Amino acid sequence: MKFDTPASANPIDLLKIVGQPFDRVEGPRKTTGTAPYAYEWHNAVPNQAYGYVIGSAIAKGRIFSISVTEARRAPGVIAIVTADSAGKLGKGKWNNARLLGGPEIQHYHQAVALVVAETFEQARAAAQLVRVRYVQEKGAFDLANSRDSALKPKTGTPESSVGDFAGAFANAPVQLDATYTTPDQAHAMMEPHASMAVWDGDHLTLWTSNQMIDWSRGDIALTLGIPKENVRLISPYIGGGFGGKLFIRADALLAALGARAARRPVKVALTRPMMFNNTPHRPATIQRIRIGATRDGKITAIGHESWSGDIEGGKPENAVQPTRFLYAGANRMTALRLASLDLPEGNAMRAPGEAPGLMALEIAMDELAEKLGIDPVELRIINDTQVDPEKPQRPFSERRLIECLRTGAERFGWKARGARPGAVRDGQWLVGMGVAAAFRNNQVTKSGARVRVDGAGIVTVETDMTDIGTGSYTIIAQTAAEMMGVGIDRVVVRLGDSNFPVSSGSGGQWGANSSTAGVYAACVKLREAIAQKAGFDPAAAQFEGGQVRSGERSMPIGAVAGASGIVAEDFIEFGELSKTFQQSTFGAHFVEIGVDAATCEIRVRRMLAVCAAGRILNPKSARSQVIGAMTMGVGAALMEELAVDRRIGYFVNHDLAGYEVPVHADIASQEVIFLDETDPISSPMKAKGVGELGICGVGAAIANAVYNATGVRVRDYPVTLDKLIAKMPVATW
Ligand code: MOS
Repeated sequence: MKFDTPASANPIDLLKIVGQPFDRVEGPRKTTGTAPYAYEWHNAVPNQAYGYVIGSAIAKGRIFSISVTEARRAPGVIAIVTADSAGKLGKGKWNNARLLGGPEIQHYHQAVALVVAETFEQARAAAQLVRVRYVQEKGAFDLANSRDSALKPKTGTPESSVGDFAGAFANAPVQLDATYTTPDQAHAMMEPHASMAVWDGDHLTLWTSNQMIDWSRGDIALTLGIPKENVRLISPYIGGGFGGKLFIRADALLAALGARAARRPVKVALTRPMMFNNTPHRPATIQRIRIGATRDGKITAIGHESWSGDIEGGKPENAVQPTRFLYAGANRMTALRLASLDLPEGNAMRAPGEAPGLMALEIAMDELAEKLGIDPVELRIINDTQVDPEKPQRPFSERRLIECLRTGAERFGWKARGARPGAVRDGQWLVGMGVAAAFRNNQVTKSGARVRVDGAGIVTVETDMTDIGTGSYTIIAQTAAEMMGVGIDRVVVRLGDSNFPVSSGSGGQWGANSSTAGVYAACVKLREAIAQKAGFDPAAAQFEGGQVRSGERSMPIGAVAGASGIVAEDFIEFGELSKTFQQSTFGAHFVEIGVDAATCEIRVRRMLAVCAAGRILNPKSARSQVIGAMTMGVGAALMEELAVDRRIGYFVNHDLAGYEVPVHADIASQEVIFLDETDPISSPMKAKGVGELGICGVGAAIANAVYNATGVRVRDYPVTLDKLIAKMPVATW
């Protein structure tokens, strides 16, 4: 099905099942430990051996020699794989650093060897006996030092410009020019990267933990130099990804190589301390923002430059992205610069672009509001735009930023905020409120599904879509149930297997809308097939209560399907609508924090997000997505920072004791309001993404609240107490 005209009324609009707050259909399996994660397929194949990954001890240089003699003789060792023994390897489309290093080393903890043994403990013990000698080279590890040598990136939109930014900024009566920094951050998902590989001749089956089955199937084939058809990926349950599992990592490749060398199934998990330097991270940024405005708060010039680094061949963090779309202003510029760094590879993490970009832009708006003496909510409203500000002929499909801000201000009690910093005190706590706009683009991606109804009337959906903890199983079951007129308990959803039709996968908050639209398309075909077989006019047939009905006649769909069942397969693909309209999601984040007047410790007291993101397919799972993202935003604001060792070039705090992330229990109150929106431009589901919207803007809302509480403006994330304590007004002690 091609989606190229706005959606009209369709069976989803009934909202009997879609739009309702169903519990997760796979919840009982997860809570009873019967949903196998990648390392837990203990009974899938017999004779499983264990692999242990050895990471490079240097960041840049080459391996002089690897001696595996001693390790080879250790108890239980079956095989050892290095670049020397692995044979010729290609490289996938989605990774820059090679997943097995040597002789050249591209980053610290790049995998250099895999030891395969009968048990995990034996593999780990033998790995200590592998002797690697390196020739170390000097590397570049400091973004600030490399800022001046950063270049215009060759991919994406490295620069944009409208009107005369420099002239308009110079002439603006009110100017803001400030620089903000965000640190390197780690995905820190709960489930480590893990894979189990089995070869049958030249066919590989890989049980893994992966967000994008088809991309990763292609990349493993490219890397191993085998046809894509020879690879099967199975990834039905995933314990978080956040972008870190969009692509195959060393565990997948090394499991495949290890299984080939050992001639038996091999499973490999990255240990937690390995994940931080072996896999990609969100790159640090330096962002300069200049905004010029009239005295009544109209932006006349807005400029955003962002510097980030990556290894050779890598991409920049697209932090200027939100500034290209969020606010009006006739004169504008954005620019990305990419420095060559020898740190581990940078890549997508939790709303790449928008999340770190808004951490800067939305502090800048707060600073501008203060200079103007205008309420920060009002300043954002004054500068709303209903068209793409870089291309005014392109309207937004739906844009309710103003309603998000107004609703949030009302519901949060924004009026109680003291405009003067440091004015509100509650016992030992200095109390502050902050606001930020949320913005994240809505991407749409081709997505397929197969739907079958059997003689008992059970509807089975198969698609290679993944559920990374997001609720895909549930919203897909809801979609199929609504379309086929059955209860959700009559639907079976099977995901995460490359034997199923290729889907959108999970990434960039495109998964929910695109994958359910693919299921919708397959269900439209199945409805036609059922109606036809029942002898009904497909255009007039109705599906309700497990029956297909036409006029006075009706039949159970199971009876129509009969013993052989009926199956239909289709995909949704998206036409020009995603180009003629700018599709984005909007929100407003409000937070209240307390800063201990003596110690400067920060506590998040209340958070509220108001989201306008199209039809909400399941308000319960969507809310979970948004409060999870808000919690991540608190991490970005207050805690998360990979500490760079600038001599050797690695992230020092490579475990969850040194790299702390908040949990829901750290935040006293989190609320989410979804505006009642349907977006017929986005898909037949009229839905959009919402998961990543929830993180966008949160960091700045918190930094702004800290300023409101204390009068100390921190522009370098995370906002930790050491950055406050020396600057606290004496009066608060
Ligand atoms: Mo997302 S950072 O594309 O998983």
